[in-house]
Amino acid sequence: TSTDTFTIEGKSYPKDSWHNLPPNITFYISRRLHTTKDHPISITRSIIESRFPSPTYKYHNKFFPIVTTHQNFDSLGFPLDHPGRSKTDTYYINSSTVLRTHTSAHQADTFRLNASEGFLISADVYRRDAIDRSHYPIFHQMEGARMWDRRTVPNGDIAAAVWADIERLPKHDMKVEDPNPPTHAERNPLQKEHRREEAEAIAAHLKRSLEGVVVEIFTRAKRAALAADPGFRDEPLRVRWIEAYFPFTSPSWELEVFWQGDWLEVLGCGVVKQSLFTNAGVPDQLGWAFGIGLERIAMLLFEIPDIRLFWSKDPRFLDQFKGVSDNFNNLRKFVPVSKYPACYKDVAFWLKSSSSAAGGGGKEMEFHENDIMEIVRDVAGDVAEDVRMTDSFTHPKTGRRSMCYRINYRSLERTLTNEEANEVHERVRGKLVEKLGVELR
Ligand code: PHE
Repeated sequence: TSTDTFTIEGKSYPKDSWHNLPPNITFYISRRLHTTKDHPISITRSIIESRFPSPTYKYHNKFFPIVTTHQNFDSLGFPLDHPGRSKTDTYYINSSTVLRTHTSAHQADTFRLNASEGFLISADVYRRDAIDRSHYPIFHQMEGARMWDRRTVPNGDIAAAVWADIERLPKHDMKVEDPNPPTHAERNPLQKEHRREEAEAIAAHLKRSLEGVVVEIFTRAKRAALAADPGFRDEPLRVRWIEAYFPFTSPSWELEVFWQGDWLEVLGCGVVKQSLFTNAGVPDQLGWAFGIGLERIAMLLFEIPDIRLFWSKDPRFLDQFKGVSDNFNNLRKFVPVSKYPACYKDVAFWLKSSSSAAGGGGKEMEFHENDIMEIVRDVAGDVAEDVRMTDSFTHPKTGRRSMCYRINYRSLERTLTNEEANEVHERVRGKLVEKLGVELR
């Protein structure tokens, strides 16, 4: 029956007690913004692809969003107690099936295909998260990887082959800060399977390739901003490499860009752990991988102020990007369509205490903010612009916790009347009681 199976695009999955997919999420699964011509997410994807030419790199843009926990976590070496696996962070179809939380879910399978020297994957990814102008439970990522094979490089010399490939990469004159050594025994270790000069060559190829991506994107962003606003601060581009940790790469880094007075984290990357290649049946491969979020980049590139706009079907939004897919030089800054007024409402409640047994002292219920976010998202949909906690205190006598959240309601399509906002807010309040057992104040 429909209650114990989840069906989407002709595929069915049994549900179990892990199922936590709210109905509103499923509407978005089939949109595929990253392959919609002239959509800003798709344009951003193409601009990044232009830096990783075919046939060296093969593009995969159609992988299905539902994957196994093996693909999303185990194949990448995520430990069993990794917080990313929790039901508060991830959408589960059932205990062994999830909506992918990152494009890295397809790394191992794509290595196994062994179909090219490199690849790019673009896809929609899903995470339970806060609600605000820059967070949405569905967003898009791009994964890239480049491999070299010990058996086919000249003389089996990986380092020499990689350095020869680095010579062929386009040069740039952007200022790069990279204060750390290429590897660090504790913080960012060389893998035991790699010789130092191999890992260093791969890291250099990775860094130079990704610096090229930043130059490509931010030069275009700057040009569009200057065309729209001659007063735009035209500073030279700067990036810096920061040591990072991912379960499936070592050493690992994040790349940050200095943009309009702030350092922005734009991507994560590293030298792929040899166990991934071994488990994928291609033990002679070595290489790098990176992952980049497309919304953040598209918002900077076009100056799009609100992440919900990517889901808009309003021609006043979509028509602004016509013709850019065919010629990136047509790229223009987004001109905001007039904003309708916002309306905020507060909700205050006592958390349920889970046990009031004698002497038990009344332990507080398990509370996770994402549960609030999801209830608001489920009831109000895109009309909820932003949700944040404004107050929290524990009663000195009873030990109960009181919380207050402020919800900002705003439609992208029209003016919400106060009555409409009240009606939505009442339903949110009701659901908080029903689902979380809170006591409204
Ligand atoms: N999957 C990582 C994330 O979502 C990014 C990443 C991809 C890091 C590939 C290293 C290599 O944060």
